[in-house]
Amino acid sequence: MDTESDTDMGANANADTGRGRDTNVDIGTDTELIPAPVRIGDAGISDGDSGGGSRAFPLAPSTTIAAAPGTENTERWLRSTLGAAFGLPLAPQSAVEGGEGAANSIRLRIDPALDPEGYRLGAGPTGVEIAGGSAAGVFWGAQTLRQLLGPAAFRRAPISPDSRPTIAFTDIEDGPRFPWRGMMLDVARHFLPKDDVLRYLDLLAAHKLNVFHFHLTDDQGWRIEIKRYPRLTEVGSWRSRTKHGHRASELWDETPHGGYYTQDDIREIVAYATERHIRVVPEIDIPGHSQAAIAAYPELGNSDVIDTTTLSVWDTWGINANVLAPTDNTLRFFEGVLEEVLALFPAATSPFIHIGGDECRKDQWKESPAAQARIAEFGLANEDELQSWVIRHFDTWLTARGRRLIGWDEILEGGLPSGAAVSSWRGYGGGITAAEAGHDVVMCPEQHVYLDHRQDGGPDEPMPIGFIRTLEDVYRFEPVPAGLSEEATRHILGTQANVWTEVMQNRSRVDYQVFPRLAAFAEVAWSSLPASADRDFADFERRMTMHYARLDALGVDYRPPGGPLPRQQRPGVLGRPIEGPPPNV
Ligand code: ACM
Repeated sequence: MDTESDTDMGANANADTGRGRDTNVDIGTDTELIPAPVRIGDAGISDGDSGGGSRAFPLAPSTTIAAAPGTENTERWLRSTLGAAFGLPLAPQSAVEGGEGAANSIRLRIDPALDPEGYRLGAGPTGVEIAGGSAAGVFWGAQTLRQLLGPAAFRRAPISPDSRPTIAFTDIEDGPRFPWRGMMLDVARHFLPKDDVLRYLDLLAAHKLNVFHFHLTDDQGWRIEIKRYPRLTEVGSWRSRTKHGHRASELWDETPHGGYYTQDDIREIVAYATERHIRVVPEIDIPGHSQAAIAAYPELGNSDVIDTTTLSVWDTWGINANVLAPTDNTLRFFEGVLEEVLALFPAATSPFIHIGGDECRKDQWKESPAAQARIAEFGLANEDELQSWVIRHFDTWLTARGRRLIGWDEILEGGLPSGAAVSSWRGYGGGITAAEAGHDVVMCPEQHVYLDHRQDGGPDEPMPIGFIRTLEDVYRFEPVPAGLSEEATRHILGTQANVWTEVMQNRSRVDYQVFPRLAAFAEVAWSSLPASADRDFADFERRMTMHYARLDALGVDYRPPGGPLPRQQRPGVLGRPIEGPPPNV
């Protein structure tokens, strides 16, 4: 499979190609595609059609797939999804006796003249043709084809024995605005079984999102098997009880919670993502957010300040004072962890490794003789520079192994090594500083695209957290801040929505917070929309009517436009809403 050449994540492609904000996006059509394509017409391919008869191509039992070299994964995906949804064999063209030529087929091919993730889709009397700039472009074209076939294409089995899907003749030209279109899923605060993770990869693919940021470790749980340190999962993946609601809530769920992915589970998740042209960014969060690791291996903590043997996996939420000790032992330990991580997440599909770096309280380092000795030993100014020293260590270590470090924007404090990239979450500010200094940036400001934040101000929102971020707010999110220099804009790799799961106990709660807003986010990341105020939200809402039907067919437990269903509400469970609009930072 072609993975290495799919996308160049080292630069914002639009800065070079001119496919920028001012590109016209044709979203006023009846095809109701989400995200909206660059251009859509109704010419069709090799369209000898002169107006007589139906202007739609029917998928039939005789329809074949002709997959040119390099497009095999899309061929497999089409057969397993559309074939299942409509009960059609979609046999390989080469396997059809007599070789019926190109007629009545779905034809897939790579056209290197197109942008790597771009594609052209034509539907006409002889079938459907998808040409992509790379295997990824072909795959995104196939996602469009599925949407063109209507909501039934999103089911896993036919709902009627004689339903015959048709595709209206069309001619679509498309490609993404950003090479990094991501979603971060926190499986540490609440574990999601592997099958739910695979399902989320399908949901990302259905929205042409191509980065899965996998938040695997935190104070409340360690979720990835590390063979040389078995206690990380034996001890670190379980907690005896869990705060129910915001940390100020008095409620506890006394059910033990936990789980982890075995190394084979991880390999399967990575392969599944790769088959869908999704890159996985594993996150091992250091030096804060590490109490689960310290509970498993107390020597990792600041044992000259507190008795770390008494710590257990954290059962509530917030910013934890129990951080890693900045010792050689800790560095060697996490090198060992990362060696296994690198083996599980190959460079071709995981060029970036996320090392967290957020919200590391310095209380213990201030008190710790060992930490203070480190500061003196290396001539550092303070604890921020000590954190920076830890990050630099892993930047050097990862760079030597052909990977790139990415971290939350706190890694800017105390100085950032030159190749490191930044996830800008506390607003745009960190991202602007980083991009102007020549670092690559993923924009994910909490004020705009943290999907744990409530999506309505009404009293029925379950466990309401944070700012009100409606579907429209997300639709109007602009990843590139005004006034950024052209040079710095090239360093905005793209954007991602982040899903922190403190108050999302299971897949249904995750679905509720993520959808429908991820659909709006996907359009922001993929489509070249006008400036925020000029975006046609009414048209997006119109297309959402069809998209809700797709989500229904997929079984997504989204927030209905009219508000949460009774079973989606959580009366009496405390959240922490923040009043007023988010600051423009
Ligand atoms: C974060 O939200 N602490 C990255």
